[in-house]
Amino acid sequence: MALKKNAITIPTKRAIIAPSILSADFSRLAAEVAAVEKAGADWIHVDVMDGHFVPNLTIGPMVVEAIRPHTKLPLDCHLMVSEPEKWIDAFAQAGADLITVHVEATTHLHRLVGLIREAGCKAGVSLCPSTSLTTIEEVLDDVDLVLIMSVNPGFGGQRFIESTISKIERLTEGRAHRKFLIEVDGGVKADNIGRLRRAGVDCFVAGSAIFGHSDRARAIQDLRSKL
Ligand code: DX5
Ligand code: ZN
Repeated sequence: MALKKNAITIPTKRAIIAPSILSADFSRLAAEVAAVEKAGADWIHVDVMDGHFVPNLTIGPMVVEAIRPHTKLPLDCHLMVSEPEKWIDAFAQAGADLITVHVEATTHLHRLVGLIREAGCKAGVSLCPSTSLTTIEEVLDDVDLVLIMSVNPGFGGQRFIESTISKIERLTEGRAHRKFLIEVDGGVKADNIGRLRRAGVDCFVAGSAIFGHSDRARAIQDLRSKL
């Protein structure tokens, strides 16, 4: 299926809801992806874990390729892997639109962002909760998205870490003229999404808050109603 690459608009005025398929029913992934698209999702968030950078093992490029024909939505691939530079081409060829890597997982972040761009994808950089914003200061002109982790990466369904709000506020203040989007991931629910939006978040990853409900459309609507 031919898909327009880089279907992602930056900047965006619309708040982006990106369901994380980590909490989906993996035995019927194609149907799950199609269901959240129908329910009003904007992007599909794909959590890639290697059992090394994080203590969990999930999915690789083959799964991205398998779900690609089942949705027109951008695939937002969050690589929680060591040596992410090894995997950029594979995810790009599998159909990723946006690839986000962790600053903690690479020495040469600037080069890696360039690799993602050369592969034809939008480039994102992510920070674990304990990682300072100063670690990405030098690449802020080069990235399309900054993903602020609001839980320690590795698992769905964890409790939101409150200090994330002030981190996002500081990132928003420092964004100035720059065009990157701010995404938040982990523990996003109807009771904190409004505060996160006011702190400056553009894109909201939600796993259990969407796939934990049988009515996906209702779950997405609940989140949107609190924005
Ligand atoms: C955590 C993942 C998240 C997670 C979010 O490592 O990156 O995307 O699936 O799940 P919830 O929304 O359940 O916290
Ligand atoms: Zn994620």
